[in-house]
Amino acid sequence: MSTTDSVLRTKPVEDVLAQAADPVEGSGHEGAVHRLARRLTAKDLMGFGIGIVIGTGIFTLTGVEAKQHAGPGVVISFGIAGLVSLLAALCYAEMASAVPTAGSAYTYAYATIGEIFAWIIGWDLILEFALGAAVVARGWSGYLANLFDLPPTLFSEKATVNIGAIAIVLVLGAVATLGIRESARVTNALVVVKVAICAFVVIAGLFFIDKANLTPFIPASEPVEKGTSGLAQPLSQAVFGLEPTAFGFAGVLTAAAVVFFAYTGFEAVANLGEETRNPSRDLPVGLFGTLALCTVLYMGVSFVITAMVDYRKIDEGAPIASAFDAVGAGWAAALISIAAVAGLTSVILVDIVAMGRIGFSMGRDRLLPPAIAKVHPKWGTPYRITAITVVFVAVLAGFVPLGTLANLVSIGTLFAFIIVSIAVPILRRTRPDMERPFRVPFSPVIPALSALACLYLMTNLSVETWLRFAVWMVIGVVLYLSYGRRNARLAQREKVPAA
Ligand code: ALA
Repeated sequence: MSTTDSVLRTKPVEDVLAQAADPVEGSGHEGAVHRLARRLTAKDLMGFGIGIVIGTGIFTLTGVEAKQHAGPGVVISFGIAGLVSLLAALCYAEMASAVPTAGSAYTYAYATIGEIFAWIIGWDLILEFALGAAVVARGWSGYLANLFDLPPTLFSEKATVNIGAIAIVLVLGAVATLGIRESARVTNALVVVKVAICAFVVIAGLFFIDKANLTPFIPASEPVEKGTSGLAQPLSQAVFGLEPTAFGFAGVLTAAAVVFFAYTGFEAVANLGEETRNPSRDLPVGLFGTLALCTVLYMGVSFVITAMVDYRKIDEGAPIASAFDAVGAGWAAALISIAAVAGLTSVILVDIVAMGRIGFSMGRDRLLPPAIAKVHPKWGTPYRITAITVVFVAVLAGFVPLGTLANLVSIGTLFAFIIVSIAVPILRRTRPDMERPFRVPFSPVIPALSALACLYLMTNLSVETWLRFAVWMVIGVVLYLSYGRRNARLAQREKVPAA
């Protein structure tokens, strides 16, 4: 078999489904069972979805983007980013309900376009969830310090070792290791707090609206005087040699690419396919329910905030709390900070849970060493890979000033969305007979639109984000060629007839 054939080999869907249903024989580990327990309901899935989605995005990016790119039009940006996410969610729902597995996009790619693409996606998702957890852990630490007046030398970006960030990662890592039901319980409780506070912001904010702040709704386009050049420029502007501008409809679109970060993570629901009691019904409910609720809350919150405060004066660090401060309702600011801490806690937890499931799937397929995919006999979780990823995230969160790496999370997510969108029509052609409890309407038009919309948002991210992403991917391809390609379960199987 040539190298091209081997890297493009696909894994039969039947194998994927059988692996989710049965213990894997011959894993090389006596007594190892590579199967997760089915313990989750649609409500739990929505809890996880909202748990990972509502976080730093709405609590910080709203202010930055209103001030720098879109004015009150940032509400349209949230709408556009929500729509792009919906297109991708339709594709995820078809794949997830037909092939409910812990690997989600990674496994869909393995079953359709080939092993190397599956590896690339798995590697990309590790980036998304690991960096996501680390970025948010640092944000969490900062909010906590604010709330309780803790020393910035241990809890903020000024800290050499961010003790707060490390501690929260380790605590949540333990919860994720102990059980999916435990993780679900903690997540559901945190989600109730943050949804309630977001709803409170929308309702209370309506009493402080000043219509004058909403005009102009989309400020006229203006050239950016300095700063946005070279590496910080969006890729599309760099490629077409356009003058960097802010505001106008182009500004609304740029803001849409940035606030897309606020929606990232909903697809983690698809990683719980193997742990869901009734995946064909519950996975689509979990995906759409999460997205619908978050879109409504995001548009509501961004609308009231830009209506309460002139977008030119909006606070970029803590826009929501400061908006209430600015209208003389300082008591609400403390409540909002509590919600932010709760909100960020669940984002970190679900990131860790999702990362464990992806590593688990890759280990089970032996693209990573299979020993790491072992499931704990009592806890029912992939405890080894979870522990490894927790240590990795804790180190990142403790020592690396991650600053603007949110964009790296976005680019990784958009890339995964493109692959899943492409996988839908491919699987329809290669396996037309397969049972599909949920079908994307108007395929291949909607999947094509989804892939193009994601690609468009990707081109609105900065050149430096693209470069960092490329470096991570090159490291991944080298690892695949030196380990995964030879050791993959499919490679071992190919060797048998030849022997
Ligand atoms: N979507 C998540 C957030 O906004 C990652 O923090």
